[in-house]
Amino acid sequence: MTEQAAPYGGALTAAPPRKRVRIGHLREMKQRGEKWAMLTAYDMYTAATFDEAGIPVLLVGDSASNNVYGNETSLPVSVDELLPLVRAVTRSARRALVIADLPFGSYQASAEQCFHTAVRFMKEAGAHAVKLEGGAEMAEQVELLTRSGIPVMAHIGFTPQREHSLGGYRVQGRGEDSQRLIAEAKALEAAGAFALLIEMVPGEVAAEITRSVAIPTVGIGAGNGCDAQVLVWQDMAGLRTGRLPRFVKQYADVHAVLLNAAQDYAADVAAGTFPGPEHTF
Ligand code: KIV
Repeated sequence: MTEQAAPYGGALTAAPPRKRVRIGHLREMKQRGEKWAMLTAYDMYTAATFDEAGIPVLLVGDSASNNVYGNETSLPVSVDELLPLVRAVTRSARRALVIADLPFGSYQASAEQCFHTAVRFMKEAGAHAVKLEGGAEMAEQVELLTRSGIPVMAHIGFTPQREHSLGGYRVQGRGEDSQRLIAEAKALEAAGAFALLIEMVPGEVAAEITRSVAIPTVGIGAGNGCDAQVLVWQDMAGLRTGRLPRFVKQYADVHAVLLNAAQDYAADVAAGTFPGPEHTF
């Protein structure tokens, strides 16, 4: 009997593991002045594809809330909803460092709450690091996690989980506020963060933060003075349609490709031309 391909796709576990990217490699890249790209991923095929493309860091962002679960903002997504997505990505990325985003309400109350949430992502989903939003007020959380062996990426500038207190999607760190952001970055570095994500901050401010800290900075809407860049994959690949933020560059039109494929498939079925004899046992 001829063996068939797995009926609905299959686990990507057959290939041997490649050397894992570690937080130390990212710091060395900063020292060498080598820039790198990070992408979000929320499932097996995108994780494996981006890993194959050589993307060194994948983020299972709380942006899954609006890009997977259909919510309007990142606020509603829960730890229990993110855990299976992180598990899928860690199982599928053989080389990339996988970061799990801590969702709103799962870490702000105390360092202990943060620790217990982060441990769930590490133990139950195999995350290699976690990300949390906030500045110096998160130093205790970052310190406890770092001391406990959990690498932390801190997220400053525009922090989507605070969109209601920040008054919507607004550029942060303009004018005198830039000094506050630089101080936040230094406080988080001192607390042990291994990297800083900087969102929607003027380019020259993000560049100054990048020069002021030894840890890598990852920008989104923060100009090209950062050590790395991140985009949500559906934005980068053009699956999302409609009005996009200014900082997004689309590298493909995946929406059009999928739309055409679905329409062609439906037309073939309606015409009776699929399945053909070659698809029939
Ligand atoms: O959750 C997310 O996707 C993010 C972006 C800023 C990359 O944090």
